[in-house]
Amino acid sequence: MAVLDRRLLSDNTDVADDGMLTVGGCRIDDVAAEFGTPVFVYDETHLRDRCREAVGAFGYGRVIYATKAFLCRAMARLAYDEGLLLDVASGGELHVAMAAGVPASACTLHGNNKSLDELRTAISAGVKHVIVDSFDEMDRIDALARDGVVGPDGSAPDVVLRITPGVSAYTHEFISTGQDDSKFGFNLGNGDATRAVDRARRATSMELVGVHCHIGSNVFEASSFAKAAEVMADFAIPLDLPELVLGGGLGVAYVEGEEAPTMTQWGNVLLDACEALGVRSKVSVEPGRAIAAAAAMTVYTVGTVKDIPGVRTYVSVDGGMSDNPRPVLYGSGYESFLPRAVDDPRELTARLVGKHCESGDVLSFSAQIPADTAVGDLLAMPVTGAYGQSMGSNYNKITRPPVVFCADGDARLVVRRETLDDLLATDVG
Ligand code: LLP
Repeated sequence: MAVLDRRLLSDNTDVADDGMLTVGGCRIDDVAAEFGTPVFVYDETHLRDRCREAVGAFGYGRVIYATKAFLCRAMARLAYDEGLLLDVASGGELHVAMAAGVPASACTLHGNNKSLDELRTAISAGVKHVIVDSFDEMDRIDALARDGVVGPDGSAPDVVLRITPGVSAYTHEFISTGQDDSKFGFNLGNGDATRAVDRARRATSMELVGVHCHIGSNVFEASSFAKAAEVMADFAIPLDLPELVLGGGLGVAYVEGEEAPTMTQWGNVLLDACEALGVRSKVSVEPGRAIAAAAAMTVYTVGTVKDIPGVRTYVSVDGGMSDNPRPVLYGSGYESFLPRAVDDPRELTARLVGKHCESGDVLSFSAQIPADTAVGDLLAMPVTGAYGQSMGSNYNKITRPPVVFCADGDARLVVRRETLDDLLATDVG
């Protein structure tokens, strides 16, 4: 059976003389021994290189990292240091970004149902843009203006309107957002988008600076992005606004055989389309997954191997749906391998499961792993850097894993493992 396709590993991985995988010059067995398992191991240089590639493809100040993919203070600082702005989708994400020292003026605030408090905090802190999603949100911005809430320089907030362009992306239904039937944004087809522009232009509570769309996430078809750019260009050009934000959504390869466009190819498709269409606005994008996903792997320890003859083999690890809910939520596929035997044939097909108290707690429905996989082995799952740690939970009161950044032989703890006391931190009972 196939050996692991090493292209799924982050850029700075290697195999030591004794066969052990290294990430950023750090041996995985050492990282596991120092920080325990499960652990999210990020290749820090890979993260930086993806940020640089994005800035190279779109230009400085035109890449807005979607922090929902993966956010902690170290990540916020890294992205900001590399010249990216930050797209925050809640007051919580804004709080973490600002706690990392990222100025509000480098953040854009998203959300289809921002609270009055979130809007008040963001506007008074001076976020770069509020991405306005609904007429109700406009009512709230008006109300805040009436209460005297303004930016640090005394001016009304710059806003960008989120438009639903009626373009469907080929991706999972739950993460497809550009089609007409969506909770997000102002519908282009039914005239809401035009009505929103008119209202924003008349309002004194906000300064309209651009329009935005995001057609979905984990999109592999460059043609979907080109189509969205075309529809948005038609709408945006007559408005003659300074900003056009084309969202995130670039897919990544998770499993063998998948091939996603690179950031550079994505940039070429979008920018060429915009140029050909005559867009004069500043074009920016909001990648999340394409920056963070392939930068990390999750390392677990195998705890049980149960063979049911004629049925299947179950391999249980010490994490599961609480550190990676994507297989359960979207049926997403992942590869798995043993860091001690990276290039070994993986001839055992097993169901890789977690330690949660439900049968649905599956990490990989048919994992290919070496036949000698045994209790106590470290088992790694690559491409877990986006929407893993950020979508984690405490289900079954499992403590959330730590995050370690590896670079140049140094393994740096950036998020510690939760403790049992952390589980009681909000319990005032
Ligand atoms: N901009 C907006 C407005 C978004 O809603 C999103 C993602 C992004 C940018 C970043 O998209 P990316 O480049 O990461 O595809 N939990 C799901 C993904 C949800 C994405 C939501 N919005 C998953 O695990 O696949």
